[in-house]
Amino acid sequence: MDRERLTFPSVVLQATFQHDQRSPAVSGSIRRLFRWTHPMNNALTMKARIRLPIGLLFGLLLGLCRASAQPTTAEPDRNAIAIEALSRLKGMDMEANPSLKAAVLKVLESTRGTPNFVKIVNDFQLKGQNAGLLEVALQHPADETGVEAARLILASHDLALLHDALHGTNSTAGAKIIEALGNTHDKEILPLLVPLVTDETRDVSIRRQAIRSLAQVQEGAATLLQFVEQDKVPNSLKFTANTELNAVRWPELKVKAARLLPPPQARNTEPLPPLAELAQKKGDPARGAQVFARAEVGCINCHRINEKGADLGPALSEIGTKLGKDALYEAILDPSAGIAFGYEAWQLELKSGDEAYGIIISETAEELTLKDPKAIPTRIKRSEIATRRQLKTSIMPTDLQQTMSTQDLIDLVEYLYSLKKPPANP
Ligand code: HEC
Repeated sequence: MDRERLTFPSVVLQATFQHDQRSPAVSGSIRRLFRWTHPMNNALTMKARIRLPIGLLFGLLLGLCRASAQPTTAEPDRNAIAIEALSRLKGMDMEANPSLKAAVLKVLESTRGTPNFVKIVNDFQLKGQNAGLLEVALQHPADETGVEAARLILASHDLALLHDALHGTNSTAGAKIIEALGNTHDKEILPLLVPLVTDETRDVSIRRQAIRSLAQVQEGAATLLQFVEQDKVPNSLKFTANTELNAVRWPELKVKAARLLPPPQARNTEPLPPLAELAQKKGDPARGAQVFARAEVGCINCHRINEKGADLGPALSEIGTKLGKDALYEAILDPSAGIAFGYEAWQLELKSGDEAYGIIISETAEELTLKDPKAIPTRIKRSEIATRRQLKTSIMPTDLQQTMSTQDLIDLVEYLYSLKKPPANP
């Protein structure tokens, strides 16, 4: 059973039956409390819970905190009771009550990284807890707890802490915090996130998440649309801007988005449904396998699945384990947004005046081997190369969806998603 969800009297009842394991201070408080609730016969009613006297709760809490100086086997129980007791003392003036304050801070420390941490900070309006709140936001960016944590940090106007967190070296963590900030729907996030969109030095995953989060706030979506109008959104982010801004709920902005960013089209200019909708659809994997092998679609000219296909792009035999449906749609509709490691495209200028373009598949002191978009390898002597430049665009062409119908695309993704890594032998 999840102890933290127990109602207060049932925690007390349970603890009472185990009180012989506890220190005298705790069992004393519990016995007193139990004696008080017992005459009400049904101590589990809502009423009884609300009417527990503050003094008793307070005594119980202090007893619990004193007792935790000596470790016992019943630590989790004690924490659960202390947290429950605290939730009933909320709103009490802590500054006027130093022992309560000390007890609250002690319980708070034991809840670090959990939903209760956020609840206690909120209930007692605790200041100076932003680092702990940030931990929770990072771990739960898309649920109530993490979002509430992000909201509390924003409310404290501690933008410096958030700025540092977003500029830390770990872009996965940065993207999670940006996600939590977006889910607050608070326009305070604008000064933090708007600069990321156009910052070429930042990882593309951070910049895409900044667009997703900004699109959740009306002022953020309006700013993004301005960027689109001023052509400030680079190609690698256009697809994300397109799907996010076409899905906003503010009618005026939606009209503007549809005008500036027409949704990607499938064959015969059929507009594709939004990404979120596509990712929910169920397709036919057997038909998808046929789409994959179709000459005019061309996947098979670059990707191998099991023993079939060419070897220019990564093998896709287990791609359903690596990517979810939404990521598969993104990989097909927006290939340059996240280029698979080791498959970057290079542009070489040769001293002869010729150019070469492709993926570098091996390199020695004397020469390198480049695979061109037809998967044909060419060896080039280093001494023949004038300059080399890594491109930000993928060799995988954009607009491949125009070679198929919407249903073809849905079936294709269903097929790729079904390609899973076989379970490891025990
Ligand atoms: C001209 C060659 C080419 C064609 C055609 C092509 N791809 Fe790709 N694909 C690549 C390359 C190169 C990469 C790796 C670079 C990147 O991630 O953009 C890639 C990446 C991918 C990825 C991500 C793989 C990973 O491990 O992250 C998926 C999924 C994918 N392609 C699916 C397809 C599908 C489906 C089609 C057909 C509709 C297709 N590709 C057509 C070259 C191609």
